[in-house]
Amino acid sequence: MLRWGVLAPGRIAGGFVWALHQHTDQRVHAVASRAPERAQRFAATYGIARVHESYEQLVADPQVDIVYVASPHSEHKRQALLAIAAGKHVLVEKPLALDAGEARDIARAARAAGVFAMEALWSRFLPQTVLIERLLREGVLGDIRLVTADFGGRFDFNPEGRIFNPALGGGALLDIGIYPIWLAHFVFGPPAHVHATGSLAPTGVDGQAALILSYATGAQALLHTTLFAETPQEAVIAGTHARLQLDSRFFTPGGFTLKAAGSDQRLRWTDPSGIHGSEGLAYQAAAVARHIAEGLTESPMHPLERSIALLETIDSARGQLGASSRAS
Ligand SMILES: NC(=O)c1ccc[n+]([C@@H]2O[C@H](COP(=O)([O-])OP(=O)(O)OC[C@H]3O[C@@H](n4cnc5c(N)ncnc54)[C@H](OP(=O)(O)O)[C@@H]3O)[C@@H](O)[C@H]2O)c1
Repeated sequence: MLRWGVLAPGRIAGGFVWALHQHTDQRVHAVASRAPERAQRFAATYGIARVHESYEQLVADPQVDIVYVASPHSEHKRQALLAIAAGKHVLVEKPLALDAGEARDIARAARAAGVFAMEALWSRFLPQTVLIERLLREGVLGDIRLVTADFGGRFDFNPEGRIFNPALGGGALLDIGIYPIWLAHFVFGPPAHVHATGSLAPTGVDGQAALILSYATGAQALLHTTLFAETPQEAVIAGTHARLQLDSRFFTPGGFTLKAAGSDQRLRWTDPSGIHGSEGLAYQAAAVARHIAEGLTESPMHPLERSIALLETIDSARGQLGASSRAS
């Protein structure tokens, strides 16, 4: 069992702690906020023993084994480096950093310090993903020719909030577009070419984007994301033998349908765990604990190079859109 420290007790941090305590033997031992009363409230809500008055105090706590960084994207690099410099393992919310350059800095620091570091790309650890990995490895789908995936949601426009604010690393691609992009990388690895088109929000961040990723084999991924409208949030992995269709909200615990090519034969798989929605955040925490117990400093399931490659794709797409950011 690891003793977790939560750095930045916002919305997702609450979901993470709840999932961790409900579904794993991991325990959150400490929390820190920029405002001590927020940390006090969070600790009372989730039964956390220790409250720190600053992020610096949290990372220095000898009773914390691993720091969960759950702040806006603009802060990830600084706070991950803070924890790593204090000798702590880190789980950093997605995306690992604002851009690939920052992500490489985190990877370099973690490797030099010999601590475990991972991006909290929780979808990678869900039961359906573990099963799909096996189906792909065993060639059940044949040669994969196409991945389609989307994640659009309608967000109320707030120029100050982290979704639309360039100073906080806002924009569709970094926040939600990362899920379809991750699925394409999970299936194919990094693309040979990224073609992106889209539009900006009034604050200058990417509001909507459509991406075509192409690969040396001729395979493609067609992905889209928007902050302006709710889309089906579905994904398809199409191969020469069969096509796999993930249920809506493909990045959360759910099922899929496998359909044989050229026949009506269908196989349906549904997650039997009873773990729904953000409770699925528990899987990544359990995997992190397992990896650390095995003496690993990276997850073989979601290594730092994958997180860097995701950001290379996002950097390219944001560059093509002319999206503004505080990126280095
Ligand atoms: N895995 C998922 O399903 C999922 C879902 C949503 C979000 N996320 C990710 O989780 C991270 C946080 O998202 P969230 O929706 O939880 O954000 P949020 O509710 O706005 O909380 C972020 C927290 O960061 C802290 N913070 C530190 N520096 C800040 C700054 N300069 N401006 C604003 N807040 C700052 C604040 O806590 P204190 O001031 O109290 O320290 C704030 O409560 C992002 O990386 C996001 O992409 C993941």
